[in-house]
Order: sequence, then C-alpha cells, then structure tokens
Amino acid sequence: MDFQDIIIKKREKQTLTAEEIAYFVQGVTDGSIPDYQISALLMAILLNGMQTQETARLTMEMAHSGSLFDLQQVAGYKVDKHSTGGVADTTTLILAPLVASVGVPVVKMSGRGLGFSGGTIDKLESIPNFRVDISEEQAIAFAQKSNLVLMGQTDNLTPADKKLYALRDVTGTVDSLPLIAASIMSKKIAAGADGIVLDVKCGNGAFMKTKEDAEALAKIMVEMGTHVGRDVTAIISGMEQPLGMYIGNSLEVMEAIEVLKGNVQGDLLEISLLLGAHMLLLAKRVQTEAEGKALLSEQIQNGKGLEKFRELLVQQGGNPDIIEQPALLPRSACTKVITAQQSGYITAMHTAKIGRASQETGAGRAYKTQPLDFGAGIIMKKRLGDTVAQGEPLAVIYSSTDEKCNSAAQILETAFTISAEPAPLPPLVYEIITAQKG
Ligand code: URA
Repeated sequence: MDFQDIIIKKREKQTLTAEEIAYFVQGVTDGSIPDYQISALLMAILLNGMQTQETARLTMEMAHSGSLFDLQQVAGYKVDKHSTGGVADTTTLILAPLVASVGVPVVKMSGRGLGFSGGTIDKLESIPNFRVDISEEQAIAFAQKSNLVLMGQTDNLTPADKKLYALRDVTGTVDSLPLIAASIMSKKIAAGADGIVLDVKCGNGAFMKTKEDAEALAKIMVEMGTHVGRDVTAIISGMEQPLGMYIGNSLEVMEAIEVLKGNVQGDLLEISLLLGAHMLLLAKRVQTEAEGKALLSEQIQNGKGLEKFRELLVQQGGNPDIIEQPALLPRSACTKVITAQQSGYITAMHTAKIGRASQETGAGRAYKTQPLDFGAGIIMKKRLGDTVAQGEPLAVIYSSTDEKCNSAAQILETAFTISAEPAPLPPLVYEIITAQKG
C-alpha cells in the first residue's frame, strides 16, 4: 500500500477502507510512516471529516495499538469517567471515592493537563508522595481491595494516540470531531471498564464552544463505545465559568476535600453528583438518577466518601494528614488580589482566559515537559450572576514570584464582564445522551 494514495483519497473526500485505516495506525505505531505524511492525512481528516464507520475503525485500531487493560480479575461492573477538559473541573477527585464507597469499582487512568485545562494526574501529584505510576498488576490488587484506583496511563496504553496527539498539537489538527472522538474513546476502550460516563464540556472554557459541536462529539463517542460493547453516557455540561472556585493543582485537591467533607455546595458538587449518579445507573446500582444522587449525597453526609478518599491516599503513598491539615499541601507564597473596576452584576466570564491566567501562575503547562508549580493557581471569589461592588475582590492569584502573579493578573483582569443589569445564567447541564447494551 502506498500511503500517499491514502492521503490523496481523503483529500478527495473519499471514505477510507478498514485496511487503509489499519495500515495507517500500524505505520504510526511502528514509526514506518514519516511524521510529514501522518500530518498531511490528519489535516485531510480535519478538513474533510470521516464517516462513522471510519471513525469506529480508527478508534478500534488505536485502542489495539498497545495492550488492553484486562479488568476481569476485578469483580463487578467497572465504571470509568472522562471529561473533555475544562477549568476548575475537579469532579474525578470527588465522584471516584463516592462511587467506589457504594461498592462500584472505579479504576481510572487519567492524563496530564495541557494548555488551560487541568489534568487529574497533576492534581494528584501535588499531594506529597502520592504515586500515580501504578503497574497494571498493582492496580488490579488495589481495586480488589478498595474498589478505587486513580493512576496515570501505562506506557503501552494506545501508543498510536500518544504519537497522533503530539503531532495534532503542533499541526493545527486538534479540533477535529472524529480525531477527538477516536483519541478519547480509544483510551477509554483500552482502559477496560464496562461502562463509561463522558462529561462533554461546552462553552468558552472548553474545546467545544457550542452546544451543536458538543452534541455532535457526544453522539460520536457514545456510538463508538456502544459499537464495541460498552455502555456509555455522555453528559453535556456548561463551561461558561470555572466549575469550582479553586483553580490549580493543590488548590483543586483542597476544594475536592472540602466537597467530600460536605462543606461546599454549588456547581462542582452538582456535576460530581450527576456524573456519579450516571456511573451508578450504568452499573445498575441504582434505578434512577435521583436515587443515585441521593445515595452519593448520603456518602458525603456520613463521611464514607471522605474515608474512601483517605483509603486511596494511604494505598498510593500519599499523606492522609492533608485531609485534616490542608496546609500540608503546597501553596505558593506570592499573592495578588484582582478587584472589580466597577459595581454591578457579573454577566460573563472568559473561562479560557481564566485558565490561561492559571497556567501563567505555573499551575499549568505551556509545553508538555514543563515542570509545574503545584501550589500555584487562582481562588475565585465570584460566580456568574453575583453582584460586586467596585474594589471588591474577584479572585486571588497564587504564584511563586510577583512577576508571575503580575502576568497572570494582566490576563485575569480582562476575563470578567460587569454590567449594570443581570443577564440570564447559562445552563449547567444541556443534555444527557445514553446508550446501554440492555
Ligand atoms: N482529549 C483527548 O484525550 N484527546 C483529544 O483529542 C482531545 C481531548
């Protein structure tokens, strides 16, 4: 097969055969196709799209480009969850212990943050001594004992995606629905869970800016999952403001602990309960969403969710004393308060800019190998719809140097819209799409 013919075929908007897609993924994995030809095909896919059958084939070939994680030794129905990425999106740290605490195993491989969106693995690594480099054997042993493992992706999980993602990142080919769907679903399929709940973020702090795009991505991913015998629910949720109030690695761990202690209400709790309830629904642990939310809320009230989180910390080497003493978590020394320039209502937030400001503090990476400042970030003081008086704090920046605080402040200051009249609040949840084997 001549790879140039495959590029030309997609350039001419034709449908690639199963053999051509298999040849492509094989060549990406073993390095036999040069980066410039891979990039050309990625661009042709971005411009001309893929049929559902092509995306399904690409997903499966990518899933099988490494080894599949076999979770059969863990008893029960295993559920996984994935967010397409947002700001202050800390739901995994909250819902994973809650769901595991009612007897449904959660074995989750997570990624690192890139750009303005944070990654669960980075947040976990801000906990002193917490280990995310867990082998598959260890993960199975942990899951058998505690029902809960949060780990980094193993080296051999979807190597084709690692290569393709790195190339997409530098060739302007990230924002392609079939490529995003195949990237996410290949990893989720390879990670072995029976059921997958997807949090598809929609808004100015997400990949998908419009409901239509988020819906299209959600539908493709649900279809991909069911195509290969997994139960999948996609929840399209809003990202027109940071989900929680704390942005940054140790800061988000702190907020998650406060939610598990029952001290925090609001959107972060709401979405965590909703996603968690749908994980329980897929596992048939509950019959309705309302029952699932009530059960998980009870696990907050009775402290069992927090106990499961403590068990996770001990299991993976982290210091459990951070639960009672958050000061044991890193917190950057320099601070800067952003205040309102005028009085009024907060009618809009530019969430991607808030994420960018957080990145500027050192909490996020501008390039893949950049070391993080785990104690850096932003604590938000206001939400959409709140009133604010001139001079009142909107957010507090934490960083290791005044210089970084100042450059984060320059971005953050332009992220808030304050108006004399209130504006309607954007939806927190747009739509839920689900498909089960039955
Ligand atoms: N997250 C992924 O894992 N892959 C993408 O392509 C986009 C978001």
